[in-house]
Amino acid sequence: MSATRTPGAADRALSLPSMSTPGSPSWDTTELPQGDQKVRAVRDMFDAIAPRYDLVNRIMTFRLDVRWRRKAVRLLDLPSGSRVLDLASGTGDLCIDLRRAGHRPISFDLSFGMLAADRSGAPRSQADILRLPIADGAVDGVTCGFALRNLVDLRTFFDELGRVVRPGGRIALLDVSVPRNRLVRSGHALYFGRIVPRIGGWLSDPAAYRYLPKSVAYLPPASTMLEWLRAAGFHDATHRQLSGGITQLMVATRA
Ligand SMILES: C[S@@+](CC[C@H](N)C(=O)[O-])C[C@H]1O[C@@H](n2cnc3c(N)ncnc32)[C@H](O)[C@@H]1O
Repeated sequence: MSATRTPGAADRALSLPSMSTPGSPSWDTTELPQGDQKVRAVRDMFDAIAPRYDLVNRIMTFRLDVRWRRKAVRLLDLPSGSRVLDLASGTGDLCIDLRRAGHRPISFDLSFGMLAADRSGAPRSQADILRLPIADGAVDGVTCGFALRNLVDLRTFFDELGRVVRPGGRIALLDVSVPRNRLVRSGHALYFGRIVPRIGGWLSDPAAYRYLPKSVAYLPPASTMLEWLRAAGFHDATHRQLSGGITQLMVATRA
């Protein structure tokens, strides 16, 4: 697996126009890349930031990201030994937590750079998680951390989860979010929209960390995502906000 990319590739792929309010819950994605352009931009961006992805994550979240992933695995609530797909696995942090919980994770990610930086030891392959090379009902569960907003078609992804998870199997999906409380939201908009891009720019790829707060706009409201999960066959889908609403976690059981 090669992580080599031309320096600045993410910069070119993510030449984004400015948006008025960084981190605002607009769900207006007209100014962001779409379709194949988005797939290429996302893959190039993660190839570029893979070497320092974990470091920047720990610093910009004050290590809260570690807690969020552990909570996701806890609320996945599957018996030890379960076969769990970690989708958009990145550097494998969720796989490490899944293994600690006694599960048997398999990971898939689009970016060779991220897969090459994976130190979890879980079996891993390159794949677009909208088209999984997995048989119907073949797995006990799925985790997916901080990737929903990177997908070109979230409904297709949820349908794919409904296809591969066996009846009674469970899913836990994490992503960033926008706090509901107005005061917390404005503090977070300042931090996420202005300070995080600087930290990311100093330590890693500036374009990637300018894109990060803007990419929240790809996420539909929680109520829409829950409706789509139910339509995909998950009967008890629930949504919760973590750490004051800066992150969201959805869990559900396959009917
Ligand atoms: C923010 S990282 C999250 C990595 C990891 N799950 C974590 O918790 O740190 C998002 C990941 O999603 C992957 N990704 C984005 N779109 C994808 C797709 N269509 N198929 C597979 N992986 C994808 C990226 O390559 C990247 O590794």
